[in-house]
Amino acid sequence: MSQQSTMPLQSTKPDAIPARVGVGLKPEHYDAILTERPDVGWFEVHAENYMGAGGPPHRYLTAIREQYPLSLHGVGLSIGAARPLDRDHLKRLKALNERYQPGLFSEHLAWSTHDSVFFSDLLPLPYDEESVRRVADHVDEVQDTVGRRMLLENPSTYVAFAESTIGEIEFLTEVATRTGCGLLLDVNNVHVSCTNQRWNAIDYLDRFPMQHVGEIHMAGYAPSKDDHGDPLLIDAHDRPADPVVVELYDHALSRCGPIPTLVEWDNDVPDWPTLFAEARRVESVLTRARRDEDAELAVAV
Ligand SMILES: [Fe+2]
Repeated sequence: MSQQSTMPLQSTKPDAIPARVGVGLKPEHYDAILTERPDVGWFEVHAENYMGAGGPPHRYLTAIREQYPLSLHGVGLSIGAARPLDRDHLKRLKALNERYQPGLFSEHLAWSTHDSVFFSDLLPLPYDEESVRRVADHVDEVQDTVGRRMLLENPSTYVAFAESTIGEIEFLTEVATRTGCGLLLDVNNVHVSCTNQRWNAIDYLDRFPMQHVGEIHMAGYAPSKDDHGDPLLIDAHDRPADPVVVELYDHALSRCGPIPTLVEWDNDVPDWPTLFAEARRVESVLTRARRDEDAELAVAV
């Protein structure tokens, strides 16, 4: 047993998440990861899957946390909802942060208390001054309670809310500016939302406030059609990232430089070799971006 693994996790300082590709941790892969110790930059878990007090999930996560930096991603706080945040849920999030000392902590911009994240995404959030204030108040409460900075993720959307008075990017920028939170740029969500809402994805990325971005998400979507036969993309997380999304990722990196990037694959979870291969594919894009940045720095010097 390594010296590090004898230390109680509570006293472990947060390991910074490197500007590499991480993978969403799934129970199906616990054993493969602990046996093979794959060259993965970091892992991310959904906080809600580790809110029980003990048992195998915590045993495995503790063992993996001793070997890899960890990011904690919450999907159940309903940070955009009109009602107050669930204090008990918030306490559990705080306890998880203290227990695992994640290098990054992020939340989904959901606005429904429904259990299904997918369903939450379907419900539009009106982007206006009132919702900016409400979400900013909730982000303040989360950061004050948990005691660390959080990242807020751009959602995948399917319809626009008629009462919105500001754009999504302006909304996210305003929340980040008012609260000091960072942003999580989900490039697949950008493609899904832009296709569904007939926005231009390159323009979206060019206007996104990259100075606030602390993490990127990559995932796969499911193509579908709406009632008029027009393309409708579903944020399915059930396959590799589409080549179009990889191109958008490349474009995003050209603006923000290398950023910790997560491969999200939450449904129809493949075997470990398939998921690891997807991580390597995305990492090759990130590595190229890092080389480009190094070359630019060398020229500047
Ligand atoms: Fe995401």
